[in-house]
Parts: sequence; C-alpha cells; structure tokens
Amino acid sequence: MATINENYLKLPGSYLFAEIARKVAKFKTDNPSANVIRLGIGDVTRPLPPSIIAAMHQAVDEMSNEATFRGYGPEQGYPFLIQKIIDTDYIPRGIHLDADEVFVSDGSKSDVGNIQEIFGLNNTVAITDPVYPVYLDTNVMAGRTADLGANGRFGNVVYLSCNAENNFIPALPAAKVDLIYLCMPNNPTGTTLTKKQLKVWVDYAREQDAVILYDAAYEAYIQEPDIPHSIYEIEGAKEVAIEFRSFSKNAGFTGTRCAFTVVPKAVTALTASGRRQPLNPLWNRRQTTKFNGVPYIVQKGAEAVYTAAGQHQIKELIGYYMANAKVIRDGLLSIGLTVFGGVNAPYIWLKTPQGMDSWAFFDKLLTEAHLVGTPGSGFGPSGEGYFRLTAFGNQENTREAIERIKTRLKV
Ligand code: MLT
Repeated sequence: MATINENYLKLPGSYLFAEIARKVAKFKTDNPSANVIRLGIGDVTRPLPPSIIAAMHQAVDEMSNEATFRGYGPEQGYPFLIQKIIDTDYIPRGIHLDADEVFVSDGSKSDVGNIQEIFGLNNTVAITDPVYPVYLDTNVMAGRTADLGANGRFGNVVYLSCNAENNFIPALPAAKVDLIYLCMPNNPTGTTLTKKQLKVWVDYAREQDAVILYDAAYEAYIQEPDIPHSIYEIEGAKEVAIEFRSFSKNAGFTGTRCAFTVVPKAVTALTASGRRQPLNPLWNRRQTTKFNGVPYIVQKGAEAVYTAAGQHQIKELIGYYMANAKVIRDGLLSIGLTVFGGVNAPYIWLKTPQGMDSWAFFDKLLTEAHLVGTPGSGFGPSGEGYFRLTAFGNQENTREAIERIKTRLKV
C-alpha cells in the first residue's frame, strides 16, 4: 500500500501566496465590479526590456535552423551565460569564481527549496523570522522539523526574531545551529546588513562549522553604498556560504524563469564518519540528476542582461519600481503609519494600524479599499502585526492604492 510523506501534513493547508490568491478570487467572485489592485505577491509588472526581447527573438530563430538548433543544454547552464555572470556580477567586486561554481537554474525559489536535499536530516536549521516561507516549508517537507506548535513555531527550528525593537537585524542564535538561511535585502522587511553586520554571520559560520544559505534575489535594489551585494564580499565567505541570485526581480524574469546559484568548491560539510565533503559536487550531482537546464532561448535573454544596453535598461526598470517604493513609503508615513523597508528593497513593511492582526488588516484593505497586500504573519510568527506591500505594481495603480489607503479605510 502506498503511504504518504507525513511531513507534508505538518504544514498549514496552503502556501502563503496560494492562500492569498484564493481569498482574492473569492472576493472577485462576490464583488465582480470591484477594481482590485494587487500589491501582494512580489510579481513584476513591467515588460521585459527590449535588448532581452531582441536576444530571445534571435534565439528563437536559431532554433528554427538545423545548423543552430539546440537540444539539451548543459544542466549547469551555458558557458556563455556563466562567464557573463562571473565577469559582471562578481569580478568587479573582487570575487573570483570558477565556471563550475555557478549553476544556472529556473529560479531561486526552486534552488532555495531544493538545496536542503544535500544536507543531512539531523542538521539544525535557523531562519530569520519573518522571512520568505520557502526556506522553512521545504525543511518541514523534508522532515527536518517537529510539528507546528501552538506558538506558531515548528519544533527543532531556530527562529531568529526580527522586529522593530532590534531594527529587523537578526541576532546570532543562542544555541549552535548548522544551516542558516539569510535573505538580504530581506523579503519581507526590506532590511539589509552592512559588511560589518554580515561579517558577524560569516565568522559565526566559520567558527561553528555552519553553512549560510544566502538569498540575494533582491541585491539589484540596493541603493545605499557600503552594503554588500554578495556575501562573498566578506572575507572567508567562500568557505561557508552558498549564494542564490535571480533574474526575476532585476530583469523581469518572474514568468520567464532564470536564476543562478553559486556553490564555491571550498564550502564543505561533514560526512557521518567526520570527513569534510565539498558541497559543490553534491549540488552538481543533484542538478544533473533532477534538472535538465534552462531553455537556450531564456539563457540568451539572460545573457542580454549583461550587455551595455541591457544593464542600462534594467537600471531603468529598477528605478521605476523604486519610485513606486518611495510613493508607498511617503504616502504611508504621511498618514502617520510606521513604515520600514522600501529603501534598498522593493518591499515596504508596515506596522498594522491600531495593532490589528495581520490577516484582519488584509481583510480590511481588501473589502474597504479593494487592495491586496501580504499579511506579515504569513512570513512567520514575528511578522504578526505587520503587513507587506510591494513596489512591483504599475505606477498608476501604486498611486491609486495609496490614495485608497488614505481615503477609503474606515477607522
Ligand atoms: C514574494 O512575494 O515574496 C515573492 O514573489 C516570492 C517569490 O519570489 O517567489
């Protein structure tokens, strides 16, 4: 008789963004004439920049000709893209990577979800709280956690609370942990760490033999100087950190799908017999077994991100969304709300008015202002009493959304 992976039953019924989509669909059915503005899921709305489109068109044409047609590509990504990534994203920051340390993939969501497979089930996982739900949910699925407790926390997981009191900067765990998920700029709070603050984590990982899983999907949104864009800007990080980067948010690839993960050959973990095993060959084994690579057409589009025109066009894209972030921030501040983020990240994190709980505020915004955001508690128990709005909407809707918050909410 077939049996199930019981760990799935430990999870709440649906994934956060699926639950929001369900609620919004119901509201739309009940209120068909409502003009609902969605600033919930962090999905981009601007079209792909022209240089990316041109490169993809050309790649489509290549696929029509026997001489230039491509079948399976390398599971790790085409060398033409990997080299551009290294030369543009890393070398100028003094970071040297070998081509076989970069793995192109169909998205950071897949990679941050799958990476835990190469680690033993006995590792203790630390996550910042609140944070992008995929890190925790995938560890629950794998069986690395105990049940969800009445306090809203899974057992055997170290939650690093981030709140207004600690300025959303996680403190080192009190007890030893083995795997640490850090997301900087942070989703959902928009927090970034300075080099000095990030060095604390790298030093911890080196001392404790821990591995940092560093999600830098939003690095292109960093505006302030002196904030690291890559964890490898910190000395010693290449021995303890895996970094995840994405084309979704910097170049509009949420629907096109392309990202990459850096697994330096110097990052190791212990075998049961105490031998030090590099993680790079394990990830390579995992990817070559379970993944057949990103489509050639998509990788050609991603390569175009690194042309002079591509770099200029994605800068404009980021500028567009960051202008929205300012509209949201300034608008909310002007009505006396407490607001965080939106400076080095496309997310604005606010305290719900009058201490409402996060889902109650979600319902209020939806029913009174026809506006969708994301309840902070969906990102973890420390997100309760907070709410996230994204800057990824179009400019007009973003302005309209703030106007509605100012004028339609009943006190
Ligand atoms: C979010 O809204 O947090 C993001 O869209 C999640 C993602 O990138 O998968």
